[in-house]
Amino acid sequence: MTPSPVNVTVTGAAGQIGYALLFRIASGAMLGDVPVRLRLLEVPQAVAAAEGTAMELADSAFPLLAGVDVFDTPDAAFAGAQVALLVGARPRTSGMERADLLAANAGIFGPQGRAIGEHAADDIRVLVVGNPANTNAAIAAAHAPDVPRERFTAMTRLDHNRALAQLAAKLEVGTGRLARMSIWGNHSSTQVPDPSRVLLDGEPVGFDPAWVSDHFVPTVANRGAAIIQARGASSAASAASSAIDHVRDWVQGTRDGDWVSVALPSAGQYGVPDGLVSSFPAVSVDGEWQVVEGLELSDGVRRALDASVAELTAERDAVRALGISI
Ligand code: NAD
Ligand code: LMR
Repeated sequence: MTPSPVNVTVTGAAGQIGYALLFRIASGAMLGDVPVRLRLLEVPQAVAAAEGTAMELADSAFPLLAGVDVFDTPDAAFAGAQVALLVGARPRTSGMERADLLAANAGIFGPQGRAIGEHAADDIRVLVVGNPANTNAAIAAAHAPDVPRERFTAMTRLDHNRALAQLAAKLEVGTGRLARMSIWGNHSSTQVPDPSRVLLDGEPVGFDPAWVSDHFVPTVANRGAAIIQARGASSAASAASSAIDHVRDWVQGTRDGDWVSVALPSAGQYGVPDGLVSSFPAVSVDGEWQVVEGLELSDGVRRALDASVAELTAERDAVRALGISI
């Protein structure tokens, strides 16, 4: 018997990331060999563009695509949603820091969180991509009090993948031979890329500390800004690909012996205050993220994580100052 289609809601569907994301979801790259029904949310002025993308999705004749609907209200778009990819937000442009986006984007994620709480399916899983992603996820979770908060995650998988790419280039190996990279903290330039437990073919591999601190960490942490400078627009296809990786691993499980980086509401792990959405190394078991606990952090990683947590705390306080619950 053919299984019922999984309802996947994507916001910002007419944007750059949306265009790179939707075709891969429809192809089965995210959920595997199961039918999907896409529910696209856009602002009214971009609905026509989203309808155009829906036409192209139909024209691709994906065997797993059970239908595409376009909406301009969160209540309708999240009705019955089982996976929600919250991409729609204003992207950072050259010279802007993520904190500058707070006022512009904080107002989007409260109403969307409320609509998820009221209309999504019981098994809803949410990935926030729109920046500042960690804090937007915390806002959405706070507006959906009946949804377990660990169902709200934010994307640091792109940072994780960027880190793997740098390490693989340094070692002159393929990324698939590496495991156990960790990104801690905020998806911002304060993020903490930590390669200290990386395995090559299952064996520990050390990196020169000077290369890590002087080249690797700044390259990974500032890659978003470097892409904006080079393209004149923020990363899109790599962000979409990483969103696919995040949800695929969440639903289908992480590779044996590996872990990945996921931003999720802290339950106090590693001294990150309860409720802040911070990146941790995590495995997915039976469809649920579990933070990898008990790792010993170096003094440098500890200090850097404390600074990133301070930034997350400041973002939370700035949202509260706008009168938005978080
Ligand atoms: P884009 O400007 O091309 O597209 C954004 C789309 O969102 C637009 O079509 C816009 O109409 C829509 N939108 C705006 N407000 C909306 C709302 N309230 N409801 C539904 N749709 C809405 O931007 P993009 O390049 O696709 O980037 C989207 C977001 O993703 C940005 O915030 C960007 O900074 C962020 N991003 C995050 C990561 C990450 O690793 N977490 C990586 C890249 C980009
Ligand atoms: C990225 O990391 O590429 C995105 O978050 C875009 C940005 O503003 O850095």
